[in-house]
Amino acid sequence: MKFILISLSLILFLTAIFFILLFSSVSFIFFNLFLFFFVIVLLVILSAIWPQDSPWAPWWRTDSKTAEAICRLAKVGRGDIVYDLGSGDGEALIAAAKSGARGVGIEIDPLRFWVSKIRARTNGVSDKLSFVRGNFFQQNITEANIIFVYLIPKTLDRLLPKFKKELKKGTKIVSYRYEMNLKPKKVDKENELYLYVV
Ligand SMILES: C[S@@+](CC[C@H](N)C(=O)[O-])C[C@H]1O[C@@H](n2cnc3c(N)ncnc32)[C@H](O)[C@@H]1O
Repeated sequence: MKFILISLSLILFLTAIFFILLFSSVSFIFFNLFLFFFVIVLLVILSAIWPQDSPWAPWWRTDSKTAEAICRLAKVGRGDIVYDLGSGDGEALIAAAKSGARGVGIEIDPLRFWVSKIRARTNGVSDKLSFVRGNFFQQNITEANIIFVYLIPKTLDRLLPKFKKELKKGTKIVSYRYEMNLKPKKVDKENELYLYVV
């Protein structure tokens, strides 16, 4: 809380200087230098207060072609319950719902959480999907029979004990781009997908 207050004060202070410089007669170069410094400070503050686990800089996401490949690889269909851990804008779950499954997305970032809810609605599958705003390490995932992850290897390693403890025997895990510390059952090299069965 204290950190957020200090950050906000710093932002206000820099914004005030920004406007003072904007309406004063300082040189163009000095003004641009200040602007550069201002943006850097803002990014540093943002990276510190943004949810820790969030890869905040690029909006890494699964595209629709890969989402369809995930559904094919895991044979997603009616009766399946797909969990996307770190569901982003919901693309993979929307594809799963279009294949007949129900899905749950767990997303820590409030912006992506709301975008996924809106996208589920605009894609006409909001009755099949639900989204939880929170940390997947703290959520119960026992209900899933298919798990999808697009996460960095360090996070995948941290998730392994949770998978082993909570998932039912036979649950499929599809990891996009990064391999897990398990023996894959199938690999789709073209789409960089790894299928595991617990
Ligand atoms: C690489 S993106 C993948 C997004 C989505 N699954 C997709 O494939 O398009 C990883 C997502 O995981 C979310 N995330 C990271 N750590 C998380 C955590 N501990 N709990 C919930 N979400 C998390 C990030 O905010 C981000 O949206």
